[in-house]
Amino acid sequence: MRGAVAFSALLLFFLSSPSDAVKLRIARPPKTSSTGPRPPKVDASNNLINKNNERYTANITIMVNVALDTGSTDLWVYPPEGLPHFNDTRLNATLRYGDGSDFVTGDIGVGEFQMAQYTIPFQGTLDLYLIAPAADPLLYIAFLNVDEAASAEDADFDDGIFGLLGLGFNTPGSSGVNDAVQEAYGKNADWGQSVLANIFDQNPGGADYIGIALSRTGDQEETADASLTIAEYDSNYQAVANAPKVLQNPVNSGAWTVTLDGLSVNGKKISWPSTMEEAPPGKNIVHLDTGTTNIMVPFDQQQAIYSAIPGAVFSPDSYIPIPKFSTTYDVWVVPCNATPNVVASFGGQDYPIHPLDVTDIEVITSPDGTTNYTVCVGAFTDVGTIVEGASDALFGDSFLRNVYSVFDFGTGGGNTQTPFVQLLSVTDSTKSPQDLVSVRLAAMKNMPPEIDPLDLVKIFNLTEKPFGGAPSTPSGAVSFAPSILTSFISTVSLLAFISVF
Ligand SMILES: *[C@@H]1O[C@H](CO)[C@@H](O)[C@H](O)[C@H]1NC(C)=O
Ligand SMILES: *[C@@H]1O[C@H](CO)[C@@H](O)[C@H](O)[C@H]1NC(C)=O
Ligand SMILES: *[C@@H]1O[C@H](CO)[C@@H](O)[C@H](O)[C@H]1NC(C)=O
Ligand SMILES: *[C@@H]1O[C@H](CO)[C@@H](O)[C@H](O)[C@H]1NC(C)=O
Ligand SMILES: *[C@@H]1O[C@H](CO)[C@@H](O)[C@H](O)[C@H]1NC(C)=O
Repeated sequence: MRGAVAFSALLLFFLSSPSDAVKLRIARPPKTSSTGPRPPKVDASNNLINKNNERYTANITIMVNVALDTGSTDLWVYPPEGLPHFNDTRLNATLRYGDGSDFVTGDIGVGEFQMAQYTIPFQGTLDLYLIAPAADPLLYIAFLNVDEAASAEDADFDDGIFGLLGLGFNTPGSSGVNDAVQEAYGKNADWGQSVLANIFDQNPGGADYIGIALSRTGDQEETADASLTIAEYDSNYQAVANAPKVLQNPVNSGAWTVTLDGLSVNGKKISWPSTMEEAPPGKNIVHLDTGTTNIMVPFDQQQAIYSAIPGAVFSPDSYIPIPKFSTTYDVWVVPCNATPNVVASFGGQDYPIHPLDVTDIEVITSPDGTTNYTVCVGAFTDVGTIVEGASDALFGDSFLRNVYSVFDFGTGGGNTQTPFVQLLSVTDSTKSPQDLVSVRLAAMKNMPPEIDPLDLVKIFNLTEKPFGGAPSTPSGAVSFAPSILTSFISTVSLLAFISVF
């Protein structure tokens, strides 16, 4: 039997002397003996820190922050001072995100990987020369040592985030690192596989899933703080075991894409013809992606959601900055006290989306610079064509905060079955409207005035765009794997810290 691995999102990436080896270490509780009692569980309920609903971080001896991303697979690091030494495989790779204009490129390195006592030897043969002989049995992982990144990364670097840890699939096309390794060393080379695959491989026959809870800032509901666990549920959300299994669809998509039964606003299901042939009649396929900050849906569905909210005004090609990501400058301005009842359904169950996650509150300055306003803008933005052929929508953190989510790769217990997710609702739709009113009231006490959305839209209806707010336009020259394409690094949501010392 495999012991459960609780994982405190603790990553250490270091150059140790005297061995001068590159290591990635994931902290875990003491190893369980196969026959003895289970070890005390690590309290996973408080191991992530929520930064403004945009970043989820964990504490460590810090040198480099990495984001955790269910929407991609590879590990890359870009420490500000670079890695002084690392074992270079002399393979390079370029990993593309979002619309493809966001990328990192560099050399693939191999480093020792350790999870406390819970370690296994490197399994490759071809590249043993690349790695240091270790005193302790260690797992070696491949990562990308980035030497160039798109300017889209700058915002994250400004936030002190210098890396990404993918929590997605090793399917061909999903992992630039694994693909490069297999291209060079053949299909049997497995040392380019993801960190998660390496962790799961340590216990053949064990459970192969992760559990993620995201917290919400300014939330008066009693929700526990964010957590990430591996092969174990957060003890606050054991009931997720009874949640319906929502299967990956399309199967082998290489991404956490699943069937969405529907999306409703104020009790009315919105019309949403799917672009995916794998979608059952009347249903859609959405990508669950912690690496996307908001929820990205097609234009028509964005219109349907916000036009159902009294007082909401659409500002096309707007000058109002969008704090999140959109493929257009279209913005919905919504009264800050609006409490729309938006519900997503998966596996026959309803998952209400807290009204605090349907709009985002921000302060904007009038184009003439004289006046500040408080404005609430729609958190559902236009997905454009970036998921074309891969899914109908990106359901990022604005949705995932409303559920405890388990992502099961389907390879546990010695079986191979279709990957699936299980979602446990953590939003109480009977309390959330009152919650929104008190949270927003409290916040707006110290903020500039909110004016009528129509008046605000008129003030910002100019000919010049003074603000950014939308990602850069797609570059026609790039090609990228669909499953990599769907993860915005700049909207990453979970963080661990990597340290170099
Ligand atoms: C790289 O590999 C060589 C050869 O195995 C080893 O001596 C060296 O310590 C390794 N360096 C790092 C930084 O891992
Ligand atoms: C992270 O570190 C800060 C400063 O040391 C501390 O106040 C905070 O409680 C820590 N948070 C967690 C989740 O460990
Ligand atoms: C690898 O490097 C070579 C030479 O710099 C470059 O031509 C090639 O495009 C790179 N490949 C990737 C995948 O970045
Ligand atoms: C608007 O807000 C910004 C940022 O808080 C502040 O620096 C500026 O002085 C404010 N402008 C006015 C006109 O209040
Ligand atoms: C914005 O300006 C354009 C051009 O003057 C006008 O046609 C449009 O109605 C205005 N929109 C709003 C919401 O005022």
